[in-house]
Formats: sequence, C-alpha cells, structure tokens
Amino acid sequence: MNEKSNLRTPIVSVMGHVDHGKTTLLDKIRGTTITSGEAGAITQHIGATEVPIDLISKKCGDSNLANKFIVPGLLFIDTPGHHAFTSLRSRGGALADLVIVIVDINEGFMPQTKESLEILKRFKTPFVVVANKMDRIHGWNPTQDAPFSATYQNQSQRVKDILDQKVYEIVGELYEAGFNSNRYDRVTDFQRNIGVVPISASTGEGIPDLLMVLMGLAQKFLESDLSYDADGPGVGTVLEVKEEKGLGATIDLILYDGKLRKGDTIVIGSSGEPIKTKVRALLKPNYLSEIRTEDKFRQVNEVTAATGVKVSAPDLENVLAGSPIRAATGDVDRVVDEVKKELEDI
Ligand code: GTP
Ligand code: MG
Repeated sequence: MNEKSNLRTPIVSVMGHVDHGKTTLLDKIRGTTITSGEAGAITQHIGATEVPIDLISKKCGDSNLANKFIVPGLLFIDTPGHHAFTSLRSRGGALADLVIVIVDINEGFMPQTKESLEILKRFKTPFVVVANKMDRIHGWNPTQDAPFSATYQNQSQRVKDILDQKVYEIVGELYEAGFNSNRYDRVTDFQRNIGVVPISASTGEGIPDLLMVLMGLAQKFLESDLSYDADGPGVGTVLEVKEEKGLGATIDLILYDGKLRKGDTIVIGSSGEPIKTKVRALLKPNYLSEIRTEDKFRQVNEVTAATGVKVSAPDLENVLAGSPIRAATGDVDRVVDEVKKELEDI
C-alpha cells in the first residue's frame, strides 16, 4: 500500500504498577535483557524502542502483516511503575497513541494501575490491558512464545478455570474504573470494549496476540491521526536531559511529527523564554537497542517521526524533561510563539 509513506509509527506506552512486568515485556518483544542491568530493577527513565513491522510479523508467525497493515511498525516507550514517578508516567501517557496497561494477573489492580487508567481517561487514549505472569499460575504448562489459544488448550481444566477467574476479576476492576472490557478474543468491537490479553512476558506466551491487537487498534483508531507531513519541521517532546562524555548536555526526545535535520534551528520550551539553539549532531540508537543504553549511538543527518533520538546542541543544560521541542525552518519568532502557546496548553 502506498499510503503507508504518509503514516508515522504509532507510539505505544507501557504503563502499570511497579514490578508488574513492563520492562520484561519490552525485553521479550525486543529479545534483549535490559531488566537485569537496571539498578534495583526500577526503571528510572523512559526509554524508546522501535519495532519494525517485519519483526512484528515474525513474532506473530504471519509473514504477510506488512500487506495487511498500514502502520510501519510500533515505537514502544517504557514508563516506571514506582509511585514516585507520577510525572514521568503522565508524560509517557500524554505522548502515546496507544497504551498497554499491564497488570500482574496474580495481584490484580494496584494503585499505579488505577493511576494509569486515570491518565488514559484524561487523554482519551485507546488502550489494551495485559494480564501478565500467567505462567505463575500453579500448574501452568508453558510453551515458549505460543499464541494464547494454543497454550490455553494445553492447560488442565483447573488452570483454565483459575485463568478465567483472574481475567474475570480484572474485567470487574475495569468496570469499576468505568470501562467495559472482555477477554480480547471475545471482543467484537474494540471501540466499545477494552480487550484483556493474558500473557507471560517471561515465556512470551500471548505476545503474538498482544501484537496483533495493537496493530488492529492502530489501524482502526489511528489511521487519520497518524498521517503526517514527513517533510514538515520536526515536533517532539523531551524525555530526558543527559550529560554525555565529550558532548556535554544532550537531550533524548521523541519526535512525533515531521523531520529533524542536523543543522536545524530548534526551539525548546522552558519555564522562562524558550531556548533557541542549533542541532550539532543527531544520534540514533543502533537497531533494536534503547536510547538510554550509553555506548550504542551512530550519527545520522536526519530523522523522521515517530522515533526516539538523542540531540547534541549548545545551551541544553537548563532544558527540562517533558518540554516541547520544535524545529524552526522559517520564521523562528513564530515558532517561539507556538512553543509558548503549547506550554500554556499543558
Ligand atoms: P518497574 O519498572 O519497577 O515499574 O517494574 P516493571 O513493571 O518494569 O517490572 P519488571 O519487568 O522489572 O518485572 C518485575 C519482576 O517480575 C522481574 O523479576 C521479572 O522477571 C518478573 N516478571 C515479569 N514478567 C513476568 C512473567 O510474565 N512471568 C514471571 N514468572 N515473572 C515475570
Ligand atoms: Mg521497568
């Protein structure tokens, strides 16, 4: 399909209570092991990972996805579940086109699960709920990376009953939070009902189903929202300001519209006058690595939305995470006004 070139990659945030498995899920999708390297297993920063449609096809065991779906892939953002990180979660939620709310199937809803749902209500973001850690159900018979229906068939009646009961409890909690939902394979209209996908981030079971639901949601809800001007000036949000050896202060940002080029003038919102500076270098994470893992950057001349990119430029020391950023290709003063306006709207 050739309309594809006008659709950007949807941004998918993973939200949920501490330790319910956000980072493990992204690791599994990516096939790496970032969780084990994290201090205290708490995610301190938001990372971004682009998963191209080819890889999603492979994970789903369907080589034809690129012809069925118009989106070029999915860009995943991890958010921390620890209660101290409300503002980071809120930022992750505001940025997202789609959200995965992850719930430990054995623990059910917890405070940050509810907080995530409040954020989604506020931003009216389409989401899917994942009931994670189903492999922890006593007596579970795992099949690595199997689709849900295949692995469900392999369970004893007792395990099936427990699973059904736990999913039912999550459906009840969602109802109390104001959402109609059902197990995803019983949902016929995703516009009216939230799908609940039972998975194990550890064994990979159910992940093919989750990816299919996400692709379906992206296709249904976002087709019009995702069309963009690939040659327009870049627009994004700062996730993090970071000191890098030899580069000084740099910013990690998610670009959600347009194009950003080396040499572009950029305007960044701040508590005072917006900061005006020039892009010295654009640094991309290497294929399927996270922008927060140090050593893995390569320089590029331009990037197109949606993507995570590190920007090196003068005068970034006082930039605040969460700030809007815009490239100014023509009238810089007009862009400064736009950025000021955007700050008022937050
Ligand atoms: P924060 O970033 O701290 O909010 O946590 P998180 O949601 O990213 O959780 P994380 O992925 O770090 O997982 C927490 C713990 O649960 C780790 O020890 C994981 O190995 C374990 N875990 C995650 N998913 C599963 C699963 O599906 N099955 C099992 N058995 N363990 C899991
Ligand atoms: Mg984490």
